[in-house]
Amino acid sequence: MREAAGPTAGASRTVTRSLSRNESPHGPLPDIVAAVAASSRDVNRYPDPACTDLTAALARRHGVAPDRVAIGAGSCALLQAVFQLAGPGATAVYAWRSFEYYPILAGHLGIQSERVPLADDVHDLAAMADRITATTRLVVICNPNNPTGTLLGLDRLRAFLDRVPPTCLVALDEAYFEYVDEPMGAGGLALCDRYPNLVVLRTFSKAYGLAGLRVGYLIGAARIVASLREMTLPFAVSAPAQHAAVAALALEDVLLMRVRQTIAERTRVRAALLADGFAVPASQANFLWLGLGENAGPFGSWCARAGIELRVFDGEGVRVSLGSPSDNDAFLAAVHRWRVRNAPELLTTGALR
Ligand SMILES: Cc1ncc(COP(=O)(O)O)c(C=O)c1O
Repeated sequence: MREAAGPTAGASRTVTRSLSRNESPHGPLPDIVAAVAASSRDVNRYPDPACTDLTAALARRHGVAPDRVAIGAGSCALLQAVFQLAGPGATAVYAWRSFEYYPILAGHLGIQSERVPLADDVHDLAAMADRITATTRLVVICNPNNPTGTLLGLDRLRAFLDRVPPTCLVALDEAYFEYVDEPMGAGGLALCDRYPNLVVLRTFSKAYGLAGLRVGYLIGAARIVASLREMTLPFAVSAPAQHAAVAALALEDVLLMRVRQTIAERTRVRAALLADGFAVPASQANFLWLGLGENAGPFGSWCARAGIELRVFDGEGVRVSLGSPSDNDAFLAAVHRWRVRNAPELLTTGALR
């Protein structure tokens, strides 16, 4: 396959469009800016280490007691605590490819990783259950999965959880839950009562548009939440972040309308990619996965030269976040030019994977 110059042919090169980090394309609502500005007047003081108001707001929102909610500086901080709880020498089972932070955490914390390959871009829960042994202290499930966007329904999760020993913690990473438009009810939270070894992680970084402020949360059994709270750094969630998250919860209806726009873009962009012959799994997140194999690197470079940043997994594929309609149009135009230039014969066969 030829890698030709000229990805911007016919289009004027403009600013870089960041479609690599699964962020919300929408800036903060005025009430959120006001909450941040108001709390910035007190930054000579430490923030509330217990995140009392945010904890209470989340407990109300999800109908759980406040001692079942842990707040962290992004869900990354809570994932770190979860891996720490497993402890050095333990084994963690997770799917691969999935969120790239899992192996990084395991590596840093002396935890052995058991990576279970996805089957057709979806978690292979039966194989994951088979890999659980006496040393397995943690299973992480990313649902919808980053980077493939694929979703596991509650029935499959229940059947899996029935096979996990109660001594093994299961962390369900639902960073993209708000983008799910299949019937999922409360998602993993609906399973927490029946499975006390299950914790569910969510974030304000994606649907709530607060990636730059660093707030995430976890819900689980009070006993586990107490241990995880001890493992997170004190004062890690700033006062502006706490206030913005409380304000975002109050604005949930407006923010979820924005999410619906992203879901509509997801349908539109995927349909255009399919029409261009790409294989794109149905995504329930704010990104799409193109399993391009060896073409991933050249494709990413082509898009970069067109001013579009994607997340490239060399030799595997690329993940493109859904941005504003104009960013998505720019991406589709670059993709189409690449397709015509590099693989015209595949335009009709749809053989490019
Ligand atoms: C699956 C998944 N989990 C967790 C995170 C971390 O999000 P944050 O630390 O911003 O809450 C991300 C970020 O991209 C993610 O993709």
